[in-house]
Amino acid sequence: MTNGPDAADEAAVTTARAPDESAARAAELRQILERANRLYYQEDAPELADAEYDRLLRELQDLEDQYPDLQLPDSPTQRVGAAPVGALGEVTHQTPMLSLSNAFSADELRSFDARVKKGLGLPPDAPQSDLSYVAELKIDGLAISLRYERGRFVQGATRGDGTTGEDVTPNLRTIEAIPERLPEPAGPEVRGEVFMPKTEFARINAEREEAGLALYANPRNSGAGSLRQIDPAVTASRRLSAWFYTLVEESPGIDRQSKALDRLTALGFPVEPNHEAGLDIEGVIAFLERWREPRHHLPYETDGVVVKVDRFDQQRRLGMVSRAPRWATAYKFPPEQVETRIEDIVPYVGRTGTLTPVAHMTPVKVAGSTVERATLHNLDEVRRKDIRIGDWVVLQKAGDVIPEVVRPLPERRTGEERLFEMPAACPVCGTPVVRDEGAVRHYCPNLACPARVGQEFGHFAGRGGMDIEGAGWMVVSQLLERGMVRKRGDFFRLSVDDLMTLDRFARKSAENLHASIQRARTRPLARIVNALGIPQVGEQTAIDMARWIAGKWPPAEDEPMGGPDGWFARVVRELRQLPPDEFQAVAGVGPTVATSLERWFSDPATAGILDDLVDAGVEPVRPAPRAAAADDGPLTGKTLVVTGTLEGFDRQGAEEAIRAAGGKVAGSVSRKTDYLVAGEKAGTKLAKAQELGVEVLDEDGFRRVLAGGAVES
Ligand code: IVH
Repeated sequence: MTNGPDAADEAAVTTARAPDESAARAAELRQILERANRLYYQEDAPELADAEYDRLLRELQDLEDQYPDLQLPDSPTQRVGAAPVGALGEVTHQTPMLSLSNAFSADELRSFDARVKKGLGLPPDAPQSDLSYVAELKIDGLAISLRYERGRFVQGATRGDGTTGEDVTPNLRTIEAIPERLPEPAGPEVRGEVFMPKTEFARINAEREEAGLALYANPRNSGAGSLRQIDPAVTASRRLSAWFYTLVEESPGIDRQSKALDRLTALGFPVEPNHEAGLDIEGVIAFLERWREPRHHLPYETDGVVVKVDRFDQQRRLGMVSRAPRWATAYKFPPEQVETRIEDIVPYVGRTGTLTPVAHMTPVKVAGSTVERATLHNLDEVRRKDIRIGDWVVLQKAGDVIPEVVRPLPERRTGEERLFEMPAACPVCGTPVVRDEGAVRHYCPNLACPARVGQEFGHFAGRGGMDIEGAGWMVVSQLLERGMVRKRGDFFRLSVDDLMTLDRFARKSAENLHASIQRARTRPLARIVNALGIPQVGEQTAIDMARWIAGKWPPAEDEPMGGPDGWFARVVRELRQLPPDEFQAVAGVGPTVATSLERWFSDPATAGILDDLVDAGVEPVRPAPRAAAADDGPLTGKTLVVTGTLEGFDRQGAEEAIRAAGGKVAGSVSRKTDYLVAGEKAGTKLAKAQELGVEVLDEDGFRRVLAGGAVES
C-alpha cells in the first residue's frame, strides 16, 4: 500500500547495483516484509496488499539469489509458507537436556550440600571460597534449547525426552524475548524456559470461559500448549516470554554459572534478575524463605528455587546420576491451599446472558492476595464438587492467579448448609432463565436485559471489540442511560456536540473521543466479529471465523468494503443463510458453537445489529488473501474431517496442516470424505465414518499422510 512507487523504481535497477546498495536494499525489504508478517500473523491486521507483498518478496528473493551472501536463515524468504508445515519435526540434542532432583525441605537441601561436599572431597565445614552456590528462581514453564550459528538463531527445540525434542523453531521466532540475532557472531547453544505471563494466562482463560471451553489448569499448560502448535500464528497470538539460564558454549573466562548468566545477558538473552551467587547452603535456604511469599507478586509463575554449584570444574567432577546432575537440585515450594467458608453463592449475569454462580467467601489470604470471590463456573460444577452455601472449603489459585474452590470439607458441616439453585428468573430483569437441552449454561434470553446490554456495549466499544479509545465504562454507561446510544451503530452517529453533553467533557475531550470513534469505524473483520459478542465465540474463534470468511467469500478487487453494496453487507447476507453444519468448517468450531453461530446470524433481532453497523458506516479492513492450498501436495484432491483431541495439534493446527498439504477440510463426514482424522474422545463423527466405510486415521496415520506416506498402519 505505502511502499508502492519507490519500491518499483528501485526494483528496476537492482541488477545494476553494487553489492553495498543491494545489501542496504535487502535490509530494507526484510524490514518491510517482517513488519507485514507481524501485522498479518500476530496482529491480524494486514496492511500490505497481497500482490505488493509478493512483489517485494520476489525482489528480495532475486537479490538473495544474485548475492548469496545476502541469504540469511531468518530472512522472510525463508519464512514464507513456513507457517503450517505439517507435524513438528524432531531434534536430537547434542548435549542431553537433564532434569533435576527435588528437595522439599531445608533439611533435604542440607543433605544435598553434604553430598556435594563429599563428592568433591571437601570437609563439611568447607569455606565459601571452596564451594559456593547460585540460587535461581525456578520458572514454571517449558524447557527449550536454542542453537545459534554465527550470531543467528537457527533452531529451537523442546526438551522432549531429554535426548530428542520437537522442532519448534518457527513458533519460537514469534516470541519477542528470543533474540533473532546476537550482537556478535557467537554460536552458542542456550537453554531456558518459555512461559506464559500470568496476565496472559488470565486473559486466555477468561476468554475460554466466556466461550464455554475447558480452562487451562495453569500458565505452564497453556504455555506448553501454545508453543507446541503446528501453526506459528497461534503461538504468536498468545504472548509468551522466556528466561534463560544455561549456556552450552566453551567461552574463555566463563568458568562458572554466575558468569554464564552475565554472558547470557551480554548476548541479549533475558535472564531472570532475582538470582544470587556466592551463597553457602544456609544462604540458599534464606534466599528461598525470602521468596516464599513475594514470588506470588512476580508476573510469571515460579514453583521453586534451583540451586547450582557455581564452578563448572566442580560441576564436571560431580557429574550426574540417572539423567539429573549431582551438582544441582530444585527446592519445590508447596502449593498453597487455605480453608475458608462460603457465605453465599450468587449468580452473575454476563455479557452473553450466562448466569455464573460465584462463591462469596470469608476473605482469606492465598498465594499473595486476599480472595473473597471465586467463580464456580456453572451449576453442574457446583453439583459435581458438592459445594453448598455455608460450606468450609479448600481454596487455591489455579496457576497462581485464578482463585479456585478445590473441594468442600464435609467433616465441618453442621447441617445448616444449603444447596445452591439457579434462580428461575434473571436476577437483573426477571425474565425466565433458560437452559438449552444438553448444554451446561443457564442464561437470561432477554437481549434487552440491562445487565447484558451494559456489558455487551462495554465489550463492543472496548479493547476486545471495536477498541474505541476513551470509551470506557463511565462513558458507555452514560451514553446508555441517557439513551444517546440505543443500538451499537449509534456510537458512530454521535457528534462532537452530543459528546460535549457528557459529564466532565469539554470541546477538546469531545473532539478527541469523536476522532477515536471515527478511527474505530474501520477494523479487521476478526475484531468486528469478536465485538458482536456472539455466545460461545471468543477472540480465537473470531480470528478463525474471519480467516474462513475471507477464504470462502474473498472480496472482489474493486468491491468496496462497507456500505449496502459492500463486501461486509454481502458477507452478512451469506452468513444469514448458512445452515449450522457449514459453520463447522471454521477451525475449532464444533456442533455447539456452530449452533450458536447459526442462531445468532439467523435471528432477526441480532441480525438487525449487523444492518445497523453497515448503515453506521462500519467496515472491515480489506483482508489479505490467504495462501492458496498447495495444488501438488500429498493431500491434493482429498477431503478430510478432523474430530476428537489430537496430542500434537490443536484443531486449527491440524486443519492448517491439511490445507498446507493441499487437502480440503470439511465439517462433517459424508460419502465424499476421504479420511476422518480421529483423536481421543472421537464421537458421532467416528461412528458415521465407520458406518459409511470412510478411512479413519489416528494421529500417527495422519502424520504419515501429511508427510506423503502410505495410509496403512
Ligand atoms: S537448570 C541440569 N534452572 O526445571 C540443569 N532449570 O525440574 C537443568 N527450570 O527441566 C535445568 N527454572 O525446565 C534450571 N533456573 C532454572 C530453571 C530450570 C526452571 C526447569 C527446567 C528443568 C526443570 C527441572
